[in-house]
Amino acid sequence: MSKEEQTLRIDFDNMLANRIGGLYGITREELETQRVQAAKYFQELMEERSKGSHPFLELPYQKEVADRILKVARQFIGRVEDFVVLGIGGSALGNIALHRVLNPPNYNELKEERKDFPRIHIIDTIDPDIFSGLLRLIKLEKTAFNVISKSGSTVETMAQFLIVRNLLKERLGRNYNRHIIATTDPENGALRQIAQREGYITFDIPKGVGGRFSVLSPVGLLSAAVSGIDINRLLSGAGNMDYRCRSDSLWENPALMNSILQYISYTKGRHISVIMPYSSALEGVAEWFCQLWAESLGKRLSLEGQVVNCGPTPVKALGPKDQHSQLQLYMEGPYNKVITFLAVDKFNSTVGIHDAPEEDLQYLSGHTLGGLMEAERKGTQIALTEAGRPNCTIYLPELSAFHVGELLYMFQLQTVLAGKFFRVNAFDQPGVEAGKINTFALLGRKGFEERKKVLGAFLSRLS
Ligand code: PA5
Repeated sequence: MSKEEQTLRIDFDNMLANRIGGLYGITREELETQRVQAAKYFQELMEERSKGSHPFLELPYQKEVADRILKVARQFIGRVEDFVVLGIGGSALGNIALHRVLNPPNYNELKEERKDFPRIHIIDTIDPDIFSGLLRLIKLEKTAFNVISKSGSTVETMAQFLIVRNLLKERLGRNYNRHIIATTDPENGALRQIAQREGYITFDIPKGVGGRFSVLSPVGLLSAAVSGIDINRLLSGAGNMDYRCRSDSLWENPALMNSILQYISYTKGRHISVIMPYSSALEGVAEWFCQLWAESLGKRLSLEGQVVNCGPTPVKALGPKDQHSQLQLYMEGPYNKVITFLAVDKFNSTVGIHDAPEEDLQYLSGHTLGGLMEAERKGTQIALTEAGRPNCTIYLPELSAFHVGELLYMFQLQTVLAGKFFRVNAFDQPGVEAGKINTFALLGRKGFEERKKVLGAFLSRLS
């Protein structure tokens, strides 16, 4: 098979009753019962898409945007030593995922290998120690900051931005604005107004594309391009997955099949959805997926307005590390989990294990670390299957931009389809508002005076 023909593969067999038994596996009849409904939901989604409702699905085809990103990226490559992303949640996790999976491990330390490409720092925290650590590391005059916020008002990102803007002004005077790129809503929000007023380079987060669905927009693509990731291949991979997911038949559409298997598992008591890559590079993708799955599906109200308090709990594990930590629980604990393995057919490096004179270690002779990784993954997969624990495996032929694009696109589509099965709005996040309001009140933001009084009374009862 040629490189171009290779594509992501998914093996669902270990989810099914004929593999793991009828008690915990999904039967053909259960799938058959949902088949017509699944087709209906898929057609509904495509209908909504044709009316422009889900612009994230069109991101693979934004050629002009990709061209402009590459143009702007070239302005910074070779001119700055550090490129810092300021953002949080969906405005950072996609960047982290891309950087970790498509740049070499220890990328920032590989000065020779990186050549002109700057170091990348994605600061999705307001931890003062991390922030001051960053400031000690970089030279402001040799750094560009990409401030990313769809709303343009997220407290963590705006706090980071205010610090950086001030420092840049102090150090660089009137040219400070050349060091800030704002990625935000095309019209609304404080960040958009500031960027326009102060003359930053800006990128739009398209209308209707929410944070956790924005990795293939300028949100994720700019820092990727600045570090030399082939964003056009990433988008082609996403487009290829879009093409593969055009059927309303479960057996032909991996995103639809994944969503229904996860949904049926949930209805049968498998409330925890573990994602377990056997590749450290994919750990960031697993974290990104956890946010996508949790924020999209964890909801109090159904689309019909009933209180449902539903949603699978995503958990990230890492192979083989978590074989020595979580696996005991997955093998023998409650039957409340479904496990998705991420496997890589071919790692970027081959590291042979040296022959051992010690008899007990001779079985390792002639093997590689990649081969050992595969044996451990297969061993774990079979052990779980034999123990009646539902699991499936997504295989990436290699860690390339194309296959990562396929994976990210499939996960996003799968999430929206799962939202239809769960009957929830996959695009909102009302549950995070309460905490935000309390934070604003505690910080004394105008308009939150009443809430401040309530919190004051609450806190005095505690003390
Ligand atoms: O996925 C989401 O919508 C959220 O996680 C947001 O990305 C996060 O809250 C940050 O929001 P914003 O991009 O508006 O700063």
